[in-house]
Amino acid sequence: MGLLQGKVAIVTGGSLGIGAGIVHRLAAEGAAVALDFHTHRDAADAIANAITGAGGRALVVQADVSLPADTQRLVSATVNAFGRLDILVNNAGIEQPTPFANVTEDQWDRQIAVDLKGPFFATQAAFRQFVAQGGGGCVINISSVHEELPMVGNSVYCAAKGGLRMLARTLANELAANNVRIVNVGPGAIATPINATTLADPAKTQALLAEIPLRRIGQPTDIANAVVWLASDQASYITGTTLFVDGGLMIYAGSL
Ligand code: BGC
Repeated sequence: MGLLQGKVAIVTGGSLGIGAGIVHRLAAEGAAVALDFHTHRDAADAIANAITGAGGRALVVQADVSLPADTQRLVSATVNAFGRLDILVNNAGIEQPTPFANVTEDQWDRQIAVDLKGPFFATQAAFRQFVAQGGGGCVINISSVHEELPMVGNSVYCAAKGGLRMLARTLANELAANNVRIVNVGPGAIATPINATTLADPAKTQALLAEIPLRRIGQPTDIANAVVWLASDQASYITGTTLFVDGGLMIYAGSL
């Protein structure tokens, strides 16, 4: 029996990259999964079809996480389809690295809206559902090493991810009375569309690899495996912290 048998999960940004990896792994562990997509309907449908074809349960919902009404609709659609909600994975995110002096108000608004406001209100909608069904539940934010590690030329993204760090720590206190856990997973460099430009450039890839003690770029499954475990009852005493899944990038100390 899967680690998440009988559980119901939502994954935002579930059609691509890390999100798609998480959707597959949650479903493989027995969860019914609602996967939200913003733009890539075909990719979302293909994932859902693969899951249902293998005997699992999946639902595709279009939602822009930056709109609280959309995330509320996502939660409602999930509960209508599967009867309850146990796990929210706030995965959707965008990144627009730009030197500080050139950042526009639009870039600030969009990144903060998707990367920070989105998880805030999606969590609020999920929490209300958790309370309505008697408490218990788990929220996993896909944050980044950059919730703690500064990155030159990426100030807005770092501000958003730093915000997610304090959001998790604050809500872990506030929601504990309802037995709701909130945990961040902090990926390092993972092979996904968000990283495509860097990974298409051999020099940039080599420079990145040089700062990763395990000397490889991560895969979505590396993150998904951590999410499955953190969302399961095996991690029932874990809340308010961050698990970095980064090949050691966070603690890189140079070479001999
Ligand atoms: C960013 C990637 C970056 C990685 C390591 C991630 O949060 O999305 O672009 O390569 O952190 O710096």
